[in-house]
Amino acid sequence: MDDGYGAGDIGSVADRLRAAKFVAVLTGAGISAESGVPTFRDAQSGLWARFDPRELATPAAFAGHPKRVWDWYAERRALAARVVPNAAHLALVAIERRVPRFALITQNVDGLHARAGSRALIELHGNIARVRCSGCGRPADRWEEAAATGADVLPPRCIHCGAFLRPDVVWFEEPLPQDALAAAEDAARQCDLLLVVGTSAEVYPAAALPRQAQAAGACVVEINPQDTPLRAYADFWLRGRAGEVLPALARAAWP
Ligand code: OAD
Repeated sequence: MDDGYGAGDIGSVADRLRAAKFVAVLTGAGISAESGVPTFRDAQSGLWARFDPRELATPAAFAGHPKRVWDWYAERRALAARVVPNAAHLALVAIERRVPRFALITQNVDGLHARAGSRALIELHGNIARVRCSGCGRPADRWEEAAATGADVLPPRCIHCGAFLRPDVVWFEEPLPQDALAAAEDAARQCDLLLVVGTSAEVYPAAALPRQAQAAGACVVEINPQDTPLRAYADFWLRGRAGEVLPALARAAWP
């Protein structure tokens, strides 16, 4: 397998991208890093520095400390609303418009792909901008107004059943939305090129998708400044930041 981001590799991948009938992309937190959104493997900052995301993004954490978990997500929701999509998100929109079939599978909950203009988007882990009831599951449009107990008591409670509201994201130990996972697996099996961008490829079932794609005959390309378990089998590794590599790849494919 070629590794290291060099002109030779990007030319070979650009040729495959231009010839591809169905391009699928799997993204992780790394694609939003250049927008200023910390990745999960980045050290947490500020008052969250003492917590590991795995201590906050779990049903047990919410059951034990609902206000702490609500506040952590409220801070991440506010950050996501403040930042903007970067050149990598925009390059994926340009690629989507060029290829016959396209599917963007993201593990990210920051909503930046949708804001960049990506259309064929599969959000495997939910979306931080959405809130739902932890009891009856109903979506909450406006939780401040919806909170029966007033916004000063957090987490707000569902106006229908009184249970705490929670972010509409997937926590550790929780199942992924079945329809999203099925769509992602279909795309992995049917695509002829899979770009894997900015993920440590450690969290399943998303991390199984590249192998599923390769087993079904797809060319798998990793785009990441660091190596990950994909290094053992990906067909190409374009080593670099997504905000540099993806625009360069799109330019090389369609000068
Ligand atoms: P991670 O934080 O695990 O990995 C981020 C990856 O992005 C790393 O491999 C970095 O090397 C890479 N990276 C950093 N900066 C980059 C850049 N500028 N361009 C390209 N890559 C860059 O984030 P994820 O792999 O997304 O799950 O984590 C997967 C899941 O684990 C998350 O969706 C979340 C977390 O627990 C849930 O919340 C359910």
